[in-house]
Amino acid sequence: MERYVIQGGIALNGNLDVQGAKNSALPIMAACLLGNGASILDNVPALSDVAVMAQIMETIGAKVAWTGENQLRVDCTQLDNWAIPDYLMRRMRSSFIVVGPLLGRLGRVRVTYPGGCAIGTRAIDLHLQGLKKLGAKITTGPSGQIEFRASQLRGTFVDLDIPSVGATENILMAAVLAQGTTVINNPAREPEIVDLQSFLNKMGARVEGAGGDQIIIQGVDKLEPACHEIIPDRIVAGTLLVAAAVTGGRVTLHKVVPAHMSVVVAKLAEMGATIDVGKDYITLYAPEQLKSVEKIITAPYPGFPTDMQPQFMAALASAQGVGILTEKIFDGRFKHIDELRRMGANISVDGRTAIIRGVEKLRGASVEATDLRAGAALAIAALSAEGVTTLSGVQHIDRGYVNLEGQLAALGAKIYREREA
Ligand code: EPZ
Repeated sequence: MERYVIQGGIALNGNLDVQGAKNSALPIMAACLLGNGASILDNVPALSDVAVMAQIMETIGAKVAWTGENQLRVDCTQLDNWAIPDYLMRRMRSSFIVVGPLLGRLGRVRVTYPGGCAIGTRAIDLHLQGLKKLGAKITTGPSGQIEFRASQLRGTFVDLDIPSVGATENILMAAVLAQGTTVINNPAREPEIVDLQSFLNKMGARVEGAGGDQIIIQGVDKLEPACHEIIPDRIVAGTLLVAAAVTGGRVTLHKVVPAHMSVVVAKLAEMGATIDVGKDYITLYAPEQLKSVEKIITAPYPGFPTDMQPQFMAALASAQGVGILTEKIFDGRFKHIDELRRMGANISVDGRTAIIRGVEKLRGASVEATDLRAGAALAIAALSAEGVTTLSGVQHIDRGYVNLEGQLAALGAKIYREREA
């Protein structure tokens, strides 16, 4: 196990390119399973979750290899297995999104319940309902096995109660090879869904509407491999902006899509940061002290992202005034609060709402990341704190940030990684 040692109180300054989006790369890797041949993906972040997805795909017969800096070759010419072992399914939530494409390509797939960050209930009922409507026969076996079969999927109308990101992706990837037209009503509207649509269309699929209220898919007989560049990671970019903001720094992020980050940028501006937005860059100039904001409520895109909630909580912890933050997406995504309290944060919780009374300064402490974004939040808190913080559980951070310590050090932070004793 490894941990970070972070010396707080140093303003971040400089320029950085933002990595490719994990939450786009994972479903697009899965989508490669639909094409008979080798797809080339660029701007893929070298993360542990990407390695797990590669391992899952290799158990099915795919060949996955790094062929350049951030370039992945995913060869799905020969798929010779349809069962994914439980130990891989448990490694991350996204393991489940291979179901849609495998059902489309092989007509059969067996998985178990997916694992993933411990951030609350993470149901799969919407995935199952949608795939069933497309004609999949679903049976459950001993030890939590779920088997899907369909000799021919058929286009249908799927109405999602919640605009679930994963369910939208699974249903979309199953529907591209279904017979006839599928409509997904109330889909997730995230930029990562638009990126998936664009990759699928390069493969020869006929999909339109991603990013809006309905996705319409005209099924085709087969798909070809394709080349694609993954979009920039809006959550990594947001995390770095918040880190710059809490340290009183000035940072320019390049290779971003500012339109994907409007809510986060608006909140940082409300907190007192000056932000200059260009075509593919964002510069943040931090104020001397951030002001609290009284209303941050997480919501599906284009609302405030749940994946930025912990990082903003860390910023509010030493902002001037009282901040109020409500988590509406996941029912267990407040685990960072106890750790922030160890650093001197004054936070009370009422159900899904946290009331954060800003303190003058957080202080360095020994804390633990319990999940990916909680880890990012604690790194931010440590950068703003007086003294030294040791942050354990770095393996959670490695799931979503490529060499976070290197990125922060490039901006002047004093941070290093060490083995835990
Ligand atoms: C995706 O998870 C992201 N993961 C998450 O990123 C992100 O937090 C989340 O979307 C919300 O934006 C990837 O893209 C790989 P959901 P996903 O299905 O697809 C409920 C990160 O830190 N729901 O949109 O699992 C569910 O319980 C992470 O990078 C059902 O009830 O999220 C939750 O409350 C972690 N039934 C809500 O919907 C279902 O069948 C949103 O979940 C599916 C979901």
